[in-house]
Amino acid sequence: MTDQIKLFQEKLNAELAKMEFGKKPTELYEPLRYTLRQGGKRMRPILAVMAYLTKKQDWESIIAPALSIELFHNFTLIHDDIMDEAPLRRGKETVYKKWDSNIAILSGDALMILAYDLMLEADYDDIKYLIKLFNRCVVEVCEGQQMDMNFETIDTVPEEDYIEMIKLKTSVLLGYSLEMGALLAGMTKEQALKLREFGINIGIGFQLKDDLLDVYGDTAKVGKQIGGDIISNKKTMLLLKALELADEKTKEDLDDLIAATDFDPVKKVDSVKAIYAQLGIKEIAEEKMKYYFDLGFKQLVELKDEDLNLDPLIAFTQALIDRDH
Ligand code: IPE
Ligand code: IPE
Ligand code: MG
Ligand code: MG
Ligand code: MG
Repeated sequence: MTDQIKLFQEKLNAELAKMEFGKKPTELYEPLRYTLRQGGKRMRPILAVMAYLTKKQDWESIIAPALSIELFHNFTLIHDDIMDEAPLRRGKETVYKKWDSNIAILSGDALMILAYDLMLEADYDDIKYLIKLFNRCVVEVCEGQQMDMNFETIDTVPEEDYIEMIKLKTSVLLGYSLEMGALLAGMTKEQALKLREFGINIGIGFQLKDDLLDVYGDTAKVGKQIGGDIISNKKTMLLLKALELADEKTKEDLDDLIAATDFDPVKKVDSVKAIYAQLGIKEIAEEKMKYYFDLGFKQLVELKDEDLNLDPLIAFTQALIDRDH
């Protein structure tokens, strides 16, 4: 991580630490402080800042809308952990585990609205346009999340449907972060759209990496339960490729592991990982991830001659490919 990125993270964290949210009822606001102060990469606001820096220097002027995206992201995580029955997030108990699902639903809802409040602080002439873009993104995230859950109980999913699902649940928000930063910096809507498209492709790569880390990551670094996707039969690229490439016997084994309702989670994860190893699934998924990051980089090249400073954005994106958390 470059010193510049660290500086952004520190500044964003300091601003988040200042947010009191509200006092009473404590059950509503405490989970927000808990969530927002436990770290995270702050990648989306950093992307917004990076997009802004391509044209302008005074990045501190966009902190409110950039943090708005971080608040929105954290709202999606609080609800996602209920949907995924995830016990751990950023090395700590998830909100619905520490409190309960009702509290996680309601504090998540409040957080989403608070995100809108901050977005409205953006210094932009056409605020209606910005909110419309944000709204479309938010609805798309919901679409992606629903598809993700629908896929859990479908036998197999075509690769293009999987890509569409992760584009919606994850990439569009990265795309919006960049588009917003670009618009606030004074780029034309067309230029900003190009950065959005770049964000969509690197977002697909980013989610593929998330899926890889869910199987091969280190809990201490990732801060999540490793193997969670395998336990809940998430149709990740890894599982889809395994289902596609397995011979008849292996496919039967895999189908049995997926169908089992009463199982030892550790054994299930180990057995599925053994099949992945036999089929070279990790390497295949890494190739796919690289493919989408490369697509993104090619789109950036198109923007290159327009007198924009893209170097920090390129360096940051490169770090996302190699991330271990
Ligand atoms: C996790 O996002 C959810 C996904 C879209 C993959 P991050 O990996 O950005 O999570 P934090 O904010 O750094 O914890
Ligand atoms: C989450 O995808 C996407 C959103 C929160 C919208 P995941 O379910 O893979 O994210 P993690 O792995 O729990 O962070
Ligand atoms: Mg999920
Ligand atoms: Mg999840
Ligand atoms: Mg995941």
